[in-house]
Amino acid sequence: MFKVLVTGAKGQVGSELVKAAPAGFTVIGLGSNELDITNQQQVTAVMAQYKPDLIINAAAYTAVDKAESDIETAFAVNEKAVALLAQAAYDADIPLFHISTDYVFDGQASTPYKETDTVNPQSVYGASKLAGEQALERTHAKHIILRTSWVFGATGNNFVKTMLRLGKEREELSVVADQYGCPTSARSIAEVLWQLAEKYVAERTLPWGVYHFSNSPACTWYEFACEIFEQAVKAGVLERKPVVHPITTAEYPTPAKRPAWSVLDCGKIERAQSIALVQWSEEIIDIF
Ligand SMILES: NC(=O)c1ccc[n+]([C@@H]2O[C@H](COP(=O)([O-])OP(=O)(O)OC[C@H]3O[C@@H](n4cnc5c(N)ncnc54)[C@H](OP(=O)(O)O)[C@@H]3O)[C@@H](O)[C@H]2O)c1
Repeated sequence: MFKVLVTGAKGQVGSELVKAAPAGFTVIGLGSNELDITNQQQVTAVMAQYKPDLIINAAAYTAVDKAESDIETAFAVNEKAVALLAQAAYDADIPLFHISTDYVFDGQASTPYKETDTVNPQSVYGASKLAGEQALERTHAKHIILRTSWVFGATGNNFVKTMLRLGKEREELSVVADQYGCPTSARSIAEVLWQLAEKYVAERTLPWGVYHFSNSPACTWYEFACEIFEQAVKAGVLERKPVVHPITTAEYPTPAKRPAWSVLDCGKIERAQSIALVQWSEEIIDIF
């Protein structure tokens, strides 16, 4: 059996990874209470105890607004701990799959971001995730960095769940209509990571490096919300659709600056790793 250590196993992506392990893989899924990735001794002990063949790091500090005032913790989890995991993977000569974000870009583009485009994070969260990518790249060549965006899953908090809650509570609500991105189900991210793991097992190597992966097509938060309500009513989860008003980012100020354009070009992973993209509209139903 090929042993895979999944960190952050209780998060949106981590829990999907644990759920969806293909045949032939043993998953050691550890939540933050079992493995704090910022703790060097715990990382060393877990590596010695389980001797994994691959690490998938699904742990991260993901509170984007809170990170603006909690810089130290954001960098401890998103940069320093990634360096620790990278060193552990290097020492064991095993690959590390890591997840990163569209927030490494500044959102000023108007065409989808490629892996080679210039990074320029606008938030503490984005900067800490970029620092994590760089720490991994410096430490260990055998890595996959999967940048994704607008994640929603059955576990944890996300936009789909917030909309469902607000849709039950309110007759009307306002949603930002000038930020573009690609919603991505945690399920589809887990599936891609397992496909890469299977490929690695079969070929004993992979085309390492940074890849963009999101669901398609691009939309605004407003369009995403409208589709969620449409489907929720059809599925009988909501009795009626609330009235959704499109607003601007300026009308909905947040502590962290969000990129206006967060669309990732996923052509590289489609070509180099033969990954097929899925439509986010088909993934929403899993959350209900
Ligand atoms: N959510 C998004 O919209 C989004 C967008 C783009 C990229 N991403 C990236 O996708 C990846 C997965 O995100 P997600 O949405 O699944 O996040 P999530 O639901 O917030 O899960 C992250 C998990 O990491 C754990 N964690 C935090 N600090 C830890 C530590 N020191 N040691 C071990 N575990 C720790 C958390 O556990 P506790 O709750 O117990 O602290 C949580 O279960 C992350 O790398 C994130 O940056 C997410």
